Amino acid sequence: MADGNVAFPFTAEVEAVTAPIWEKVRARVTPIEWRAQAPLIAEINRLKKQKNAVILAHNYMTPEIFHGVGDFVGDSLGLAREAARSDAKVIVQAGVHFMAETSKVLCPDKTVLIPDLRAGCSLAASITAADVRLIKARYPGLPVVTYVNTTAEVKAETDICCTSANAVQVVEEVARQWGVDRVILLPDEFLARNVARQTDIKIIAWQGRCEVHEQFTAGDIAELREAWPDAEILAHPECPTEVLEASDFAGSTAAMSDYVTQRKPKRVVLITECSMADNVAGDAPDTEFVRPCNLCPHMKRITLENIYEALLHGRHEVLVDPVVAERARAAVQRMIDLPPPAQPARYDLVKARHHVDVELI
Ligand code: 13P
Ligand code: SF4
Repeated sequence: MADGNVAFPFTAEVEAVTAPIWEKVRARVTPIEWRAQAPLIAEINRLKKQKNAVILAHNYMTPEIFHGVGDFVGDSLGLAREAARSDAKVIVQAGVHFMAETSKVLCPDKTVLIPDLRAGCSLAASITAADVRLIKARYPGLPVVTYVNTTAEVKAETDICCTSANAVQVVEEVARQWGVDRVILLPDEFLARNVARQTDIKIIAWQGRCEVHEQFTAGDIAELREAWPDAEILAHPECPTEVLEASDFAGSTAAMSDYVTQRKPKRVVLITECSMADNVAGDAPDTEFVRPCNLCPHMKRITLENIYEALLHGRHEVLVDPVVAERARAAVQRMIDLPPPAQPARYDLVKARHHVDVELI
């Protein structure tokens, strides 16, 4: 069912056209659910062509969105790069609001839509532009690096953005360019602590948290090790430091996905949002996934139904004040212009060089 009363039939044509997608999602979607989802996927893919639209789908989207309608899928860095490159007239952000704002900032002439305006982020909500101005006044002469999980207004106060995929690289590069040994890294305290362990640059941090990743504990990892001694444990850098220390690898959602598809571990645990394992499993048939996870309630606001309605009605358009957008764009663009993170992904990330503390604001 979509758009109030419209339900599309599950015809033989729909079944045929969506068959390759079904193969990717059948482990997580029931045949009954598929009879409702497949026609909607076919309709969304038809509408995309008609409207000259692309869908940028984050790794935390549910599998029917990720494998069914996403034109580009990936982590925050990958989606920002795709937004900057896209020729489409319309971008539908299957992700959270800060990601849609980033797309708008990078593509001011395109229409950027988010299917549900309530798709927020606890990190983006943890800091305001006024906070950043106060921090800059307190630490004059130090560069401010801001995680992309922030509003456009916060990015506008920032010297350069980073994502979990490139945070160490950005911090080291900006310190080199400014000739300083201290950098302000906002707003994720855990990302900041995890970056501090991998660099000689001193980190000044804010006490923002991801409400999904902060819930994992070292005790969870110990229990998993006992229950599944042969499982490889991969964790997102937004997790507490003791979780990363107990894991085998830490990286962005794209880095975790690459790890699994390239190394093909027999058994794996992804310490992150629930849809991540569901999506990677579609591309890693030989790996068994142990699935402890936490749901991101913001990401889960995006559904096939509201993506369809977003495309059909051109809603909800994300707008950013042009003056704010120009300043924010400079910060995001400086990040995008850095060379892509070293390939293959850094599988040694957990083996940190330092056990240092950060200065908390
Ligand atoms: P990634 O950049 O690793 O995709 O992370 C985004 C995010 O919101 C993680 O919680
Ligand atoms: Fe924000 Fe955490 Fe949800 Fe990512 S998982 S969008 S950081 S609340």
